Amino acid sequence: MTADGIDGMERFESPGKGRGLRVTRAYRVGELLFVCPAYSHVLSVSERGYTCEHCFARKEGLSKCGKCKKAFYCNVECQRDDWAMHKLECSAMCSFGESWCPSETVRLVARIITRMQKVQNERSDSENLLLLKDLEGNLDKLDNEKREMNEADIAELHHFYAKHLDFPDHQALLTLFAQVHCNGFTVEDEELSHVGSAVFPDVALMNHSCCPNVIVTYRGTSAEVRAVKDISPGMEVYTSYIDLLYPTEDRMERLRDSYYFTCDCKECKTKSKDKVKLKLRKVNGDEPRSEEIREMLRYARNAIEDFRRAKQEKTPAELLEICEHSMDKMGSMFEDSNVYVLHMMYQAMGVCMFMEDYDGAVSYGEKVIKPFRQLYPAYSLNVASMYLKLGRLYTVLDRLSAGSAALKKALAIMEVVHGKDHVYVKELQKEISAHQK
Ligand SMILES: C[S@@+](CC[C@H](N)C(=O)[O-])C[C@H]1O[C@@H](n2cnc3c(N)ncnc32)[C@H](O)[C@@H]1O
Ligand SMILES: [Zn+2]
Ligand SMILES: [Zn+2]
Ligand SMILES: [Zn+2]
Repeated sequence: MTADGIDGMERFESPGKGRGLRVTRAYRVGELLFVCPAYSHVLSVSERGYTCEHCFARKEGLSKCGKCKKAFYCNVECQRDDWAMHKLECSAMCSFGESWCPSETVRLVARIITRMQKVQNERSDSENLLLLKDLEGNLDKLDNEKREMNEADIAELHHFYAKHLDFPDHQALLTLFAQVHCNGFTVEDEELSHVGSAVFPDVALMNHSCCPNVIVTYRGTSAEVRAVKDISPGMEVYTSYIDLLYPTEDRMERLRDSYYFTCDCKECKTKSKDKVKLKLRKVNGDEPRSEEIREMLRYARNAIEDFRRAKQEKTPAELLEICEHSMDKMGSMFEDSNVYVLHMMYQAMGVCMFMEDYDGAVSYGEKVIKPFRQLYPAYSLNVASMYLKLGRLYTVLDRLSAGSAALKKALAIMEVVHGKDHVYVKELQKEISAHQK
């Protein structure tokens, strides 16, 4: 087995962080560091009919699998090339009918197992610097709750894939699920809507920082890594694993819970943005008492969790009411630019878009965009996608000059993070020039 490596990159031992990736030459903002094809990928059930299962192209006129009528493809080539994976599910979906409901992680793991068995010990194009079998699983750090979740995943895998999968032993499955939880990626589109899940071993070599110097974007089923800061030779490459909107304590909790480490980046040490992120209203010139603040923070964090659960079961109208109620309550102490209020406004915007209440969506979007720009790093997918959504909403509402202005702001960021030749960038340029006609 030979390793070709990746030009300009090397794997190294990053003190306190396990293995890591560093550059051997300089990279400028917007420059592509490397591309990694997915080792395995799976399309989200909600994308069926809009996106090709095999190459993740989103287009109209896809043709469906004649047997299950659930998988859609660009053409016969995509269908043929996907069959080794789709056959894991095609007949099972027919026989299970309505009760076919494996999680996306379980679906991805079924595909990984199939691929591993097919390629055996051959190094794939996705594993120039790190092999899938060597991904960090943090197995020694799992608590009972996590172990039980892994066991439940394994049971689900056996239940839905019994017929078409040659199962590895239990220990190997426990390891694989732990690895996928720590190293799996969710593939998102330009508006940050979920498209699917995938594993990219070389990309998973990058450690986390809340002040990242690269961003990962997707082109079809490949991941691309671009610099969002200038990087000097010898510097470690850091991506962010999490949404960077939230204050240090929340980010820390998220990183410990999902990735089992304590971040020691500059922002986590200085907490320099925390005060603005938790912006408080002054009542008669005074800030609220610390016990009152703690109480409201508890409320806000619970509200986020409750809303996340409510999304599965409540109607859009009920969801909007939940958002408005929590914004009202938080509004007595938190400014509109406080991240917990922003979180609820962002959710409310999504619900309005779903309900096709575009005026409602715009009014939330307009409140969110300025604080987003201030609180997120300079080049951020969250900021770009918010401009994009706003621009498209203005366009639908026939507010063309506001639309152009917002789309141009999205474009400026996307040219750097996606690259000028990305299909999202080209489509966006067309949308902008259509306004000028
Ligand atoms: C996607 S992997 C990154 C590569 C990993 N270091 C390795 O050796 O395979 C994620 C894991 O790397 C470690 N890690 C990532 N970022 C870190 C950081 N900033 N500090 C400490 N550990 C980190 C944690 O163990 C985490 O679960
Ligand atoms: Zn295709
Ligand atoms: Zn099928
Ligand atoms: Zn950090």
